[in-house]
Amino acid sequence: MNQHTNPDREARNILIANDRGGYTIPTEGLYPYQWNWDSAIAALGFAEFDIDRAWTEVETLFSGQWTDGMVPHILFHQQDDGYFPGPDVWGCNGPILSSGIIQPPIAATMVRKIWEQDRVAGEQRLRDLFPKLLAWHRWIMKWRLDDRDAVCTTHPWEAGRDNAPDWDKSMARMDASDVGEYQRRDTTHVNSDDRPTKFDYDRYIKLVQIGREAEWDQQILLEKNPFRVADPTMTFSALRAARDLLEISEALDLEAEGLRADADRLENGARSLWNEDLGSFDSRDAHTGEWAGSISNASYMCWYAGIDSEKMLGRLNSVLETVPYPVPSYDTSMPNFDARRYWRGPTWAIMNMMIGFGLEDMGHRQQAEDLRQKTAKLISNYGFAEYFDPKTGSPAGGTAFTWTAAVWLHWAGRS
Ligand code: SER
Repeated sequence: MNQHTNPDREARNILIANDRGGYTIPTEGLYPYQWNWDSAIAALGFAEFDIDRAWTEVETLFSGQWTDGMVPHILFHQQDDGYFPGPDVWGCNGPILSSGIIQPPIAATMVRKIWEQDRVAGEQRLRDLFPKLLAWHRWIMKWRLDDRDAVCTTHPWEAGRDNAPDWDKSMARMDASDVGEYQRRDTTHVNSDDRPTKFDYDRYIKLVQIGREAEWDQQILLEKNPFRVADPTMTFSALRAARDLLEISEALDLEAEGLRADADRLENGARSLWNEDLGSFDSRDAHTGEWAGSISNASYMCWYAGIDSEKMLGRLNSVLETVPYPVPSYDTSMPNFDARRYWRGPTWAIMNMMIGFGLEDMGHRQQAEDLRQKTAKLISNYGFAEYFDPKTGSPAGGTAFTWTAAVWLHWAGRS
């Protein structure tokens, strides 16, 4: 443990150091480009000391939006050989070199928060961004719903929870024997025990090859992509985003046809992710209908999406009581729990913040405050790591991490 004596200053300095001019990299080395949901969180952090820069972050992200409304999960603003797979592997043709998949659509929610912080500074910028946010929402409604209206992830990177146990069964069904030779870069930057296995990586790359082969045509991929899993990260984020867009459209009198009906559909989809046998929100393979059987930190995003659940609250109470540094990305009592391996156990500050937003909004103030304080203790004791061992607090993955710094500034470090 290494006490961080001035975390406010440290957090601001991390955002400034990771700023590449209009966009922020998540961390030097491991992630040298602009990532979609990282940027939405970075903007929230910047809004605490430079509101103009906060808006610019999101505007730069949307400068990479495809004409059909899709907003890529990575924008490759400049060449960097330290990351794989780069733009040549993805083979995409957007306005900026990019990946061909999305990430959880949290931008609308974070943008609303930034606007509410200073409505005068934000109004015109929000008016300009709104149609772009709406176009992305509509793209998701068109291409990502399963037959029960839950939102699917079509690559483990899309949900942002790369190696979550949620995907294990669906990944095991995939054949990646012909993926070919490739060189991972991630394990040259951080400890390989903190990262996904080769089994998973082969499938990540195979899915990129399938997308490229289809020229990222979503109609073709509906049939050709073997990986399609309805997931709580995508579904709860999309539902919350739809509601936030609706609020904005009403406040600013903006065109948003069909948005209320979309939010109702997404709410049904979100409720369909309740796995009664497991007693938790869960992921479901859209091809087979099979449950993943995973209690993850995304399961606790229900309140973020405006869905209350006594059962989840009971679970959360017990996690807050028994896990020193909650919320683990995978239930600590499950056999595949792995305290350091990325999304198979570690605690992630951004997930805590979104869970905290939801708890606060739905009146579970005590749990929201408890989670905030525990997250603050975790960061001030162990630093601005990418993620943390939920039992010991030990930092893992990348360091000087943008979204951990942003979470500190906007939420965890606020008393
Ligand atoms: N998280 C992925 C990676 O590790 C990409 O989104 O490269």
